Amino acid sequence: MGKFLATVLCAVLYGSLAAAIPVGNVSASSSASSSTAQAATSTSDSASPSPTVPLASDDPNFWLWNETTTTDPQPERGTLGANILGPQNIAIDRQNPDILAPPTTDQGTVGNAKWPFSLSKQQLNTGGWVRQQNVQQMPIATAMAGVNMRLESGAIRELHWHQTAEWAYVLSGSTQISSVDQLGRNYVATVRQGDLWYFPPGIPHSLQATNDSSEGTEFLLIFPDGNFNDDDTLLLTDWLAHTPKEVIAKNFQDNIADWDDIPGSQLYIFPGVPPPDNQQPPTSPAGEIPQPFSYAFSEVTPTQYTGGTAKIADSTTFKVATKIAVAEVTVEPGAMREMHWHPTQSEWGFFLEGTARVTLFAGTAIAQTFDYQPGDISYIPTAYGHYVENTGNTTLKFLEIFNSDVFQDVSLAQWLALTPPALVKQHLQLSDATISRFNRTKGVVVGGPAGSDYLVAEKAAAAGIVHIATINRANQESDVQADGPRHGPDDEGRELLAQY
Ligand SMILES: *[C@@H]1O[C@H](CO)[C@@H](O)[C@H](O)[C@H]1NC(C)=O
Ligand SMILES: *[C@@H]1O[C@H](CO)[C@@H](O)[C@H](O)[C@H]1NC(C)=O
Ligand SMILES: *[C@@H]1O[C@H](CO)[C@@H](O)[C@H](O)[C@H]1NC(C)=O
Ligand SMILES: *[C@@H]1O[C@H](CO)[C@@H](O)[C@H](O)[C@H]1NC(C)=O
Ligand SMILES: *[C@@H]1O[C@H](CO)[C@@H](O)[C@H](O)[C@H]1NC(C)=O
Repeated sequence: MGKFLATVLCAVLYGSLAAAIPVGNVSASSSASSSTAQAATSTSDSASPSPTVPLASDDPNFWLWNETTTTDPQPERGTLGANILGPQNIAIDRQNPDILAPPTTDQGTVGNAKWPFSLSKQQLNTGGWVRQQNVQQMPIATAMAGVNMRLESGAIRELHWHQTAEWAYVLSGSTQISSVDQLGRNYVATVRQGDLWYFPPGIPHSLQATNDSSEGTEFLLIFPDGNFNDDDTLLLTDWLAHTPKEVIAKNFQDNIADWDDIPGSQLYIFPGVPPPDNQQPPTSPAGEIPQPFSYAFSEVTPTQYTGGTAKIADSTTFKVATKIAVAEVTVEPGAMREMHWHPTQSEWGFFLEGTARVTLFAGTAIAQTFDYQPGDISYIPTAYGHYVENTGNTTLKFLEIFNSDVFQDVSLAQWLALTPPALVKQHLQLSDATISRFNRTKGVVVGGPAGSDYLVAEKAAAAGIVHIATINRANQESDVQADGPRHGPDDEGRELLAQY
């Protein structure tokens, strides 16, 4: 049985190789093709999977520009495209090489999956500013919306509440939060850079910059609703300014005159006196909130992978955060967050440091590539395949945020490693050696910095690509008449391959 299987497998492998050898160039591989043709024939009626479609392009589609490139970016990739003769916004083109000259593997469009906070209208207040992204800026981002807020030392985002939950990641300085829940339990905490807070839907709260940094604080807020609008929150001052003074006095069992100085409209953000870090809330008869509304994420040790690190905060550790989960990921130069997808939730991404490119694979042959810089938002709809590649020479750091109680992902490599190898082989025509190298543990962040084993392996793989490319290019050339012109590796790809 084992022997029979091995024979079938060999036949399968040779059969597929034979099919891959182009009719237009038999000379290069004549000895291989004659022997494999026989093997293929001998099992032609069984599982012999001669490909029913042409091979994928062997163009490596490297990114075309990086911080060392001095020439202006142009919509050109290999022999495709031509330079721009009309006006050009070079600064934007430089930031979006994969939109200007997409990889040849891109096809169709997935909708806009990039929004730089730089393009969000700023609201300037005394003491800080705020800008937001929701479905108005990014129609595909239906599951979450983001707000970026800055408070000078002591400045206050006033007491308020809203229908959705609020999750935050502190980008700089520290922020003191206060809250009281529906049972009258209260909470005050100072949340530092890289730490999180979370308020359940409808629970009132305030945010204030401490004086830990003379600059105050800045943070990212996430709301599990793409339609969230920060202008629609319910504010203490706004409510009282729109309530008859007689009612206010009756409510607080007070004289109307005691309420003479309340603001006539909302404050939103306003300057204040910095609070002490160890500030305590008034003692509540109901006690403190049982599950803290803040989480010292900065103190969680990340897991080290071959190409970087990752750490997760979701309701398994940050108990109260039942509607938002996060992964903070670092990717070293040359490395990549592996090809994967999230089975049940869309991803709202935020780029903190470094540069990246990401291809969203939407199914039905649709794939589109985007480039990201610090301060940019990405959005990847539920189950879309993607990777996040470091395209710079510094560490890439970003957040993957989900409208979910737990973080979940499916790894392409792990999936293939744990699937019967013969089945994988019949799909992809890979060698046993290649399949046996697939990691049964999630790689998460794969590859490593220059000089690492990864790059050595990459060079070997690239050498393999050159070999396959010879066969594949000829194959494509033989298809030219049927399919119209196709092309092999672009000039840069050729140049890079030549280095190995
Ligand atoms: C990254 O590239 C820039 C621009 O060439 C260079 O100035 C810088 O030294 C490089 N950084 C590293 C860590 O190689
Ligand atoms: C804030 O901190 C700085 C030192 O970092 C200090 O000089 C300043 O007086 C502090 N301001 C307040 C209002 O506490
Ligand atoms: C940047 O691009 C140049 C070619 O333009 C290439 O030689 C170099 O390796 C690239 N650097 C990185 C970090 O990709
Ligand atoms: C497999 O992935 C794990 C991380 O999940 C890593 O520690 C290990 O080195 C990888 N193994 C191989 C052979 O790449
Ligand atoms: C056929 O293969 C040989 C050897 O690999 C190569 O030199 C030649 O360019 C190929 N011909 C075509 C048309 O690709």
